[in-house]
Amino acid sequence: MTVTYDASRVTLVDHPLVQHKLSILRDKNTGTNQFRQLVRELALFDGYEAMRDLPMEDVEVETPITTATFKQLAGKKLAIVPILRAGLGMVDGILDLVPSARVGHIGMERDEVTHEPHEYYCKMPKDIDQRICLVVDPMLATGGSAEMAISYLRERGVKDIRMLCIVAAPEGLKSLTEKDPDVHIYTCAIDDHLNEAAYIVPGLGDAGDRIYGTL
Ligand code: URA
Repeated sequence: MTVTYDASRVTLVDHPLVQHKLSILRDKNTGTNQFRQLVRELALFDGYEAMRDLPMEDVEVETPITTATFKQLAGKKLAIVPILRAGLGMVDGILDLVPSARVGHIGMERDEVTHEPHEYYCKMPKDIDQRICLVVDPMLATGGSAEMAISYLRERGVKDIRMLCIVAAPEGLKSLTEKDPDVHIYTCAIDDHLNEAAYIVPGLGDAGDRIYGTL
């Protein structure tokens, strides 16, 4: 069955370098060290695309030749919000682009009785409501954890939220865009479907286990 979602809320980051790195990432024979490095590199490409529309301002610069007006970032503050634990693997790649960004952590786990995800750990910068938030998690599967993390940020007054993942399932894109129509999603791949165990197919397996070698 085809799952449809609002494609205007989704940006596919499909650069040849991204596709190449992603094919290596998907390979079950790729080891932990290389997997972790590739997640970091793919997060950088993802973040580059997600920050394409950051506001800019004019700045006067004295070059060795003359003085002229150029552009610089308008100082809009950023926060990277990894969803524990796999999201941590994407943080350094984005910090490579914006080293002064703050990092807020959010841990989600599924209640064993109700099966509903709930947060077990949250630590955000105090001024989180003033920041553009880049929520990061490599796999957008059902969308449940991302939805919880994003609604937690909305409750704290965050207006501009961007969701960055590496592989998304159509089911997760549909669910997340319906729950929060103002969030924009950046992903390096949109895969076929979720299997009965909620793994993305063809996917890459359990991203957290592959990043941390806990298979
Ligand atoms: N989380 C993962 O790590 N992999 C999947 O395929 C789905 C959710």
